[in-house]
Amino acid sequence: MVVAVVQTDPTFSVVSKNIDQALSLMRTAQADLYVLPELFASGYNFTTEEEARSLAEPFQQGTTFPAVAAFAKEQKATVVYGFAERDGDEVYNSAALVSHDGTTGLYRKLHLFDREKLFFAPGNLPFRVFQTPAGPVGVMICFDWYFPESMRTLALRGAHIIAHPSNLVLPHCPDSMPVRCRENRVFAVTANRVGAENRGGISLSFIGQSQITSSRGEILARASATGAEIHTRTIDPDEAKSKRLTGMNDLFEDRRPEFYQ
Ligand code: ACM
Repeated sequence: MVVAVVQTDPTFSVVSKNIDQALSLMRTAQADLYVLPELFASGYNFTTEEEARSLAEPFQQGTTFPAVAAFAKEQKATVVYGFAERDGDEVYNSAALVSHDGTTGLYRKLHLFDREKLFFAPGNLPFRVFQTPAGPVGVMICFDWYFPESMRTLALRGAHIIAHPSNLVLPHCPDSMPVRCRENRVFAVTANRVGAENRGGISLSFIGQSQITSSRGEILARASATGAEIHTRTIDPDEAKSKRLTGMNDLFEDRRPEFYQ
């Protein structure tokens, strides 16, 4: 099966251009699972809660979901992407999953990074694994990686691949994902953006370097720090099934949770 990491260069608030750029890039490479960045259609560097709300869409409504769902259907693929979600009075930093067979999924970022706390409500849904035509896919968003519990929970719940929409500004994630993948024996597709957003006196630069990491901790693909790019790799998600490390060690069975609190 083929996974694609899609690295885009969005312009703040220019939603249809950002969606078009992403889908055009995705049409250049066939894959079973495409992962797009966090907030890929809206941009990231909000100045007010109202601004975030005005760019937010209810799950499965608005502009983004129908465009991505149509792509998934046409390409017989599964797509995971980050979006600003409006639900009643709340705005969440969310990720949606949509597959050609009609499978859909929603995740709301649990660990908000820095000024995101000014614009978004913290996620209120559990980490979830979605049974997709591309296998069991767990979803987390960007800074969630910093909390080992995120990937551990998804792996314990049966994920073989972690879809990881991101807008990374700190440098640590790409070199850290091999450890996260190795300790959980899962694949990860970390889709980051490039470019910079200077708004309201706050300037943010995004580090690119989107990455596909194997369940053994190998970096299978890493994008550049500056370009809009798509990278695909063929993987066998079943390699994430067994957690056996040696004849006498199993990464999950050997855990001692009673001593971890
Ligand atoms: C981040 O969580 N967007 C750094």
